Amino acid sequence: MIQGPEHTAQEALASEVPLAPLLSPASWQAIFDCLLNERGIDFSSYKRATMSRRILRRVGIAGLEQVDDYVCLLRASARERHALVRDLLVRVTQFFRDAEAFDVLEHEVIADLVRSACERQTIRVWVPACSTGEEAYSIAMLFQEALDRVQSPAQVRIVATDIDRQAIEVAVQGVYPERIAEALTPQRLQRFFCKERNGYRVERHLRKMLHFAPHNLLDDPPFTHVSLVSCRNCLIYLETVVQQRILACFANALGRQGYLWLGPSESCGSLSSVFRTVHAKWQIYRKVRAVKSLFDTECNITQRVYSPEQELAYTKGYLRTTIAELESTRKQLQSSNEALVAAREELQLTKEELQSVYEELHMVTVESQKKIRAFSQLNHDIDNPGCPHEGKHEGITEPGPIEG
Ligand SMILES: C[S@@+](CC[C@H](N)C(=O)[O-])C[C@H]1O[C@@H](n2cnc3c(N)ncnc32)[C@H](O)[C@@H]1O
Repeated sequence: MIQGPEHTAQEALASEVPLAPLLSPASWQAIFDCLLNERGIDFSSYKRATMSRRILRRVGIAGLEQVDDYVCLLRASARERHALVRDLLVRVTQFFRDAEAFDVLEHEVIADLVRSACERQTIRVWVPACSTGEEAYSIAMLFQEALDRVQSPAQVRIVATDIDRQAIEVAVQGVYPERIAEALTPQRLQRFFCKERNGYRVERHLRKMLHFAPHNLLDDPPFTHVSLVSCRNCLIYLETVVQQRILACFANALGRQGYLWLGPSESCGSLSSVFRTVHAKWQIYRKVRAVKSLFDTECNITQRVYSPEQELAYTKGYLRTTIAELESTRKQLQSSNEALVAAREELQLTKEELQSVYEELHMVTVESQKKIRAFSQLNHDIDNPGCPHEGKHEGITEPGPIEG
């Protein structure tokens, strides 16, 4: 319900009044419950201001005026729940988003990690909230280039995660529309992508560096022993207290002196004693302290213990993505196989055409030889009237058998 009878949802959206209080606590709760049941996502930790703008927009799209009516629609329609979740999660991303920031990352972080990697070491990177994968693939390209520059034998393993399973499926496929060419240099496009009918597919050698999985930053345990966490433009949608909890979780995920990269409007907040600023404008930090004491003192956050159900849910999600990856590899193999069969048929056709050309040539040769023989007979008769011709003309041979 919108509080204040003088406002419809759309009037409120168009006005300057703060939108969050316009939804009653009961409306908020009903919406949270609906979405929790639908997708298991607890949106009560997300900023109300951003959420209310998106909710009111959906109220308008549904042609409704009151939030109460929208709540009824939400309860009744899985399609609407799906659409609202999609709007609330905000998938926006692109390759090398904030190109200048990626330059800084390349020179100040990736170069350092590659330089200091021991021989055959695996550099582990975690990209939470990766959406459809563009950020993670961009980081992978920079690592590959850095490894090549110094001919390092180190390996890079990037785990990229997001709460949105459909976004993760797009990332797993690694197929993007043609417009990505605008965000990539021609060299990177050429080296890391192959052109397909309606876009570009990430090349296998780059794809192999990444593993995609569903992961909820609010509930799931962090990955560990990573050298770089890149979590950009996600914390901004969450309430401050939750941001701090997630930042503490990143500090736990990072190994000694690991790097943390946030979005341009995000920062380390009250965990500033755990991280040293490497680049203020582009929010790059380096871990300087273990986070354990923080749980006890600064943040007073107790370490989370994950129940067997949570672990099972996480493992299930992980398995589902692995199956999706296998399925995508199977499809790729199938389409390569179809291409091979088509190429073999093409070769067979060409061979048959060559065979028929050869047969025609053979016929022409036989005809020519007959004519030469006739001319030679004629010449002989003219030169030696009354003397019979003695057989084959020198230098003329019978055509050989036709070879298949
Ligand atoms: C605006 S996109 C950012 C994409 C990318 N990091 C970038 O900066 O280009 C925000 C992403 O955060 C994800 N997200 C939101 N809540 C999340 C959560 N609780 N756990 C994991 N990912 C979440 C959304 O699904 C969405 O893909």
